[in-house]
Amino acid sequence: MSGPVLVERRDDRVVATLNRPDKRNAIDQETIDVLHELCAELEAEPRTLILTGSRGVFASGADIAQLRERRADDARRAINATAFIRIAELPMPVVAAVEGYALGGGAELAYAADIRIAAPSVKIGNPETGLGIIAAAGATWRLPEIVGASRASELLLTGRVLGADEALAWGLISAIHPGEELLAAAHAIADRIAANDPLATQYTKRALRAPRPEHPDIERELQAELFESDEKRRRMTEFLERRAERGRDSDAGGAR
Ligand code: COA
Repeated sequence: MSGPVLVERRDDRVVATLNRPDKRNAIDQETIDVLHELCAELEAEPRTLILTGSRGVFASGADIAQLRERRADDARRAINATAFIRIAELPMPVVAAVEGYALGGGAELAYAADIRIAAPSVKIGNPETGLGIIAAAGATWRLPEIVGASRASELLLTGRVLGADEALAWGLISAIHPGEELLAAAHAIADRIAANDPLATQYTKRALRAPRPEHPDIERELQAELFESDEKRRRMTEFLERRAERGRDSDAGGAR
């Protein structure tokens, strides 16, 4: 396997590993192309996506060598933003397992995930203004949603980079795991997701991501559909029968 993103496919999940270690996984056009292909696949056949880096780095940002040559028209095409929006809108959850640098576009890729976990080595932030550009691939609107306006403003206006403890305290990541256990922790999250009803998971993600004016109508409609689903009836019947069986067993135990 080679290429800028290694893709491991399983029945219920896909692991995408950013793989340009010599360039600290800088996100170039080819990386974006592969991420689009992967999105097309996951839109057609929804599965959990785990995004991770390689050799102790998540992603050092957009590829500065390419970025330097981009002009106004390229900025208007929103090359990275479009791909990251597509990732964020994937039907099933996206988990980012972040080790080491997640800078600029690398941080924005992580912000596009539903769940972010990190290793103690994480260094996450947006140094774009230092390069004479803005963080235009989601940070200016996603970061305030994740950590609140005050903290997002501080990070984006100063270019300060956060370590693991601060990222956790800010709620930018939800857990810290030792580097060697990080991917296993991401898989454990995917296992939990896989144990649940995929449609209920997809609808939960949709409701979570819906803008405020769509609530509560969106929940009402999504739930209305699920209340008619065979899977809901099957799962609830199984729960009730299990309880009833337990009740019968303990009654029998009591009678002995
Ligand atoms: N774009 C393109 N190339 C990058 C890159 C990026 N964002 N980040 C690193 N690289 C390349 C370097 O040019 C270097 O290439 P070379 O070996 O061909 O010279 C290689 O990756 C290794 O980088 P180096 O800086 O030597 O690694 P390091 O481990 O000492 O430092 C970083 C890692 C991430 C701290 C540092 O590379 C860096 O600051 N990168 C830019 C971060 C940034 O500003 N990102 C925002 C972009 S919008």
